[in-house]
Amino acid sequence: MLVIYLVHNFSTGRVVPVVGGTMLLFSWFPCPSFFKMLARIFGLFSHDIGVDLGTSNTLVLVLGKGIVVREPSVVAIHSKSRDILAVGSDAQAMLGKTPASIAAVRPLRHGVISDFEVTERMLSYFIRKVHKSPTSLPRIPRPRVVVGIPSLVTEVEKRAVSDALRRAGARESFLIQEPMAAAVGAGLPVEEAKGSMVVDIGGGTTEIAVISLGGIIVGRSLKVAGDALDQAIVDYARKKYHLLLGERMAEDTKIKLGEATKGKRREGTVRGRDLKTGLPKTVAVSSHEIGEAIADPLAAIIASVKDVLEDAPPELVPDILDQGITLAGGVAQLRGIEKRFVRELGAPVNVAKDPITCVVRGTGVVLEKKELLKRISV
Ligand SMILES: Nc1ncnc2c1ncn2[C@@H]1O[C@H](COP(=O)(O)OP(=O)(O)OP(=O)(O)O)[C@@H](O)[C@H]1O
Ligand SMILES: [Mg+2]
Repeated sequence: MLVIYLVHNFSTGRVVPVVGGTMLLFSWFPCPSFFKMLARIFGLFSHDIGVDLGTSNTLVLVLGKGIVVREPSVVAIHSKSRDILAVGSDAQAMLGKTPASIAAVRPLRHGVISDFEVTERMLSYFIRKVHKSPTSLPRIPRPRVVVGIPSLVTEVEKRAVSDALRRAGARESFLIQEPMAAAVGAGLPVEEAKGSMVVDIGGGTTEIAVISLGGIIVGRSLKVAGDALDQAIVDYARKKYHLLLGERMAEDTKIKLGEATKGKRREGTVRGRDLKTGLPKTVAVSSHEIGEAIADPLAAIIASVKDVLEDAPPELVPDILDQGITLAGGVAQLRGIEKRFVRELGAPVNVAKDPITCVVRGTGVVLEKKELLKRISV
């Protein structure tokens, strides 16, 4: 018997016919097309999703819906039972404040996966979360997933992410390198025979790449980015004011008062522990001081961008000079960074629109471009 079912695809909002029936299913079993069909049916009930698995933030995009998760990459776990107590901002609020029975961890550090198990659990949490939309039918999380990963990730780590995605329910998963995803998300013409240069300055890593014809021609990844700027502020406060700052205070200060080019003096305060008395202390600081504090790691980032520019094939340099260097990632929002890059590199520089979401938007673009996805997945 042949039956045609009408199935509502909640991802696209369309009603699609599915041909089936008991006899048909048995006659297909166990041929590969049977499994393909099953996967397709499961796919009707799941979302296609793109993930930016970042050191600082994890962003998840659902095709057709946009960015639905934007959370710090932090997980709070019960130390004994290993139960997950909180993920994202709730877990971040616990960082450095947990009792011995709870551990709040950042499973990615310096652009590499430092805790596989927790990374996997964080990914499954987010995948399940995006499938909990209020619809009349329960969603079975069997999505197609594209994940943007730091380019320093090793083969072993790549396999671990793919395994984690499979265990989290992905029916198909693709990994793409973060700078490529950032370039696609920033709208650069990555498929053309034209040099595009992107610098993605995130939390743990700065990814620099010159791209042409869908491939990275010259690239560099350094473990100096937002976290290193925070650490430089901690070191500065310790040296100059004998003040011990927490990670969050240093990051907030960088965002509020940090500058890459000396601008109009802005004043603020930092709070920490006086290393002499052991007591809490508040100190007045200026944007000029914070600019000085972060000078070294910033100079290291610029030096690497110069190296990559020097290594770029001469045929691509005119394109880069025409198009400009595109800055992405959270640190691209640092005050005066564009001006500083222009001054030091002698090339035009643009900060991408909403730089912190470039990678995840890039994964969304490639989810819809099968050929490009095949070409750039690693
Ligand atoms: N306005 C701002 N000025 C300076 N730095 C900022 C600003 N906003 C965010 N940041 C920094 O950007 C970093 C996070 O950026 P992003 O989310 O792109 O990193 P990530 O993708 O999680 O990390 P990675 O790509 O290294 O794995 C943090 O260090 C954060 O403090
Ligand atoms: Mg990133």
